[in-house]
Amino acid sequence: MKSDRRKLTIAIDGPAGAGKSTVAKLLAEKLGYAYVDTGIMYRALAWAAVKQGIVPDRDDLVAQLVTDCKLSFKPDGNQFSVFSGAEDITPQLRTPEISHYSSVYSALPAVRHYLVKLQRQLGQAGGVVMEGRDIGTVVFPEADYKFFLNASPEERGRRRFNELEDDESQVKLDSVIKQLNRRDKQDSERRLAPLRQAPDAALIDSTRLTIEQVLDRMLQLIKP
Ligand code: DC
Repeated sequence: MKSDRRKLTIAIDGPAGAGKSTVAKLLAEKLGYAYVDTGIMYRALAWAAVKQGIVPDRDDLVAQLVTDCKLSFKPDGNQFSVFSGAEDITPQLRTPEISHYSSVYSALPAVRHYLVKLQRQLGQAGGVVMEGRDIGTVVFPEADYKFFLNASPEERGRRRFNELEDDESQVKLDSVIKQLNRRDKQDSERRLAPLRQAPDAALIDSTRLTIEQVLDRMLQLIKP
C-alpha cells in the first residue's frame, strides 16, 4: 500500500550542549527518519585541516582542501558517521581540540559553501532530522518544523562535563563552561550563517527539562 505521508524536514538548531544531538537522534528514531549531524561535518573538515597543517587564514589552501579531502558522510538510521577514505573517523572528532578548531574553520566561506551544499543534498528528499547552528536559517529555511533548543550556560557546561571520559576528568567544570561560552560567542558573532534562532522556530529551553520532556514538546507540535 502506498503511504501518502509526507516526509518532513525537521531542523534543530542551538548552542553547544543544549541537548540537540540526543533529542534529534530520538526524534529521528521515533519518526523513522534519517539523522544528520552537521556539527560533525564541520568537525571533520577541521580535523583534515589540522592534520595537514593548514592554517585558517590561508583561504586558498582551505579551498583546495575542501575539494581534495576524501571525506564521506554516512547517515544510517539514528547514527551519522564520517569516513576518511575507508576509515571511520567519527570517534576522533569529539576532542576539545577539534571542538575548538571546528568553530574556527566553520567561519570560512569555502568550508560553509561546500558543507551547506552537501547538507541540502542529504536532506532534499525529506524524512530527515538535521541538527546544527544554521539549519532553520540557511540550509533549510523552508523546513517543515524548526526548533531552537537552548539551556543555561551552566547547565550546558555541566552536561558537557559529565560526558567527558575519566581520563579527562581533571578538566574543571569552570573551564568547560568557559570553552563552551567562547565557542558560542564565536559561532554567534561570525559574519556567515551565525548561530541564530529563525523567526519561525519554536524555542525550547531545556535547562529544567528531561530529554523525554523535550522530545514530547517537539512531538506535540509535529503533525506528519
Ligand atoms: O554541533 P557541534 O558542537 O558538533 O559543532 C561543532 C562546530 O561546528 C560549532 O562550534 C560550529 C560549527 N557548526 C556550524 O558552524 N554550523 C552548523 N550547522 C553546525 C556546526
